[in-house]
Amino acid sequence: MATYRRLPVAFVRGEGVWLWDTDGRRYLDALSGIAVCGLGHAHPAVREAICDQAGLLVHTSNLYRIPEQERLGAMLTEMSGMDRVFFANSGAEANEAAIKLARLSAHQRGLENPAILVAENSFHGRTLATLSATGNRKVQAGFEPLVQGFVRVPYDDIAAIETAAANRPNIVAILVEPIQGEGGIRIPTADYGPKLRELCDRHGWLLICDEIQTGMGRTGRLFAHEHHGTAPDVVTLAKGLANGVPIGACLARGAAAEVLGPGSHGSTFGGNPLACRAARAVLETIFAEDLIGNAAEQGAYLLTGFREALSGVRGVIDIRGQGLMLGIELDRPCADLVGLALDAGLLINVTAERVVRLLPPLILTRPEAEQLLQELAGLIERYLGAA
Ligand SMILES: Cc1ncc(COP(=O)(O)O)c(C=O)c1O
Repeated sequence: MATYRRLPVAFVRGEGVWLWDTDGRRYLDALSGIAVCGLGHAHPAVREAICDQAGLLVHTSNLYRIPEQERLGAMLTEMSGMDRVFFANSGAEANEAAIKLARLSAHQRGLENPAILVAENSFHGRTLATLSATGNRKVQAGFEPLVQGFVRVPYDDIAAIETAAANRPNIVAILVEPIQGEGGIRIPTADYGPKLRELCDRHGWLLICDEIQTGMGRTGRLFAHEHHGTAPDVVTLAKGLANGVPIGACLARGAAAEVLGPGSHGSTFGGNPLACRAARAVLETIFAEDLIGNAAEQGAYLLTGFREALSGVRGVIDIRGQGLMLGIELDRPCADLVGLALDAGLLINVTAERVVRLLPPLILTRPEAEQLLQELAGLIERYLGAA
């Protein structure tokens, strides 16, 4: 179905941060399939894990124990400080699990009509519940009636949450991105996370962090919520978890980890041996190659570099980023830049109409970062000058 507005290019091969199209032309991938291929393309550790596992066992069923799932679950819980994981196949499904968990937890306490606080400009997925949670009318339009039970507040606005809390005794959780991705790489003030934690503790709400775009080392920490020491009750992951093999995960700790029990949720494919083995290879490589440190280092270089290169350029409103999650906000819609970059051999993205979004692989080297900086800064400058 015509659900995608596709660019006129098809890639047939990749290696590291590079992709080759059907004509053999090479492109620098500064998007990683939208924050998915953190280890770049054709990483030997992922390739070997997938090939080896495909020769052993691809799928059984959650009717049985799955050792690879147990191994990945143990790794993820240990690294995140969480207690349990539910495995799904995508980000939207990971969030569905979190939403069901929050509702069921309320029902178990006798609350009949629970509501979850969500933010304006957020993005949580395209299933009915997650598009209802999403703070973007374009994503919702035409799919009404929406799923009830979400209360929307502005992002990075603690006072608005306090007002909502005073008026809505049925709130049971907050679902929030630590940095808004689709919303335009919006980085909240440093005390937002800690204050959210404080509010959740005061009201007995669950703090659910959607780390689907920010997680797996992208921001220079394994999870973005770690930057401010905020410990969520529930964390959702997908995208970068298995470098392109579909997987989603909903992690929970404490009482929240005990809410979903047999029969309350499930997935045929979720946590199958192939996806879990790929994810384990990704996690091992992230640590073995210190890709989190590299994301922090190359990200800081790019942030400073773009700020210097574009300083004083009219039409550039703001340049922000954390690790290898960067946004360059212009004063005008700039979707055309994606095609111009493609012509120049660069894969970038524009989100929220005017924000150039960069999500390069975590394996990005300094020379590759230099090339990206030079070429893209020049392109943006020419675009703004000519527009
Ligand atoms: C923060 C966030 N949550 C959820 C999703 C949905 O993930 P998926 O497309 O895997 O369903 C996305 C995808 O862009 C996302 O960025």
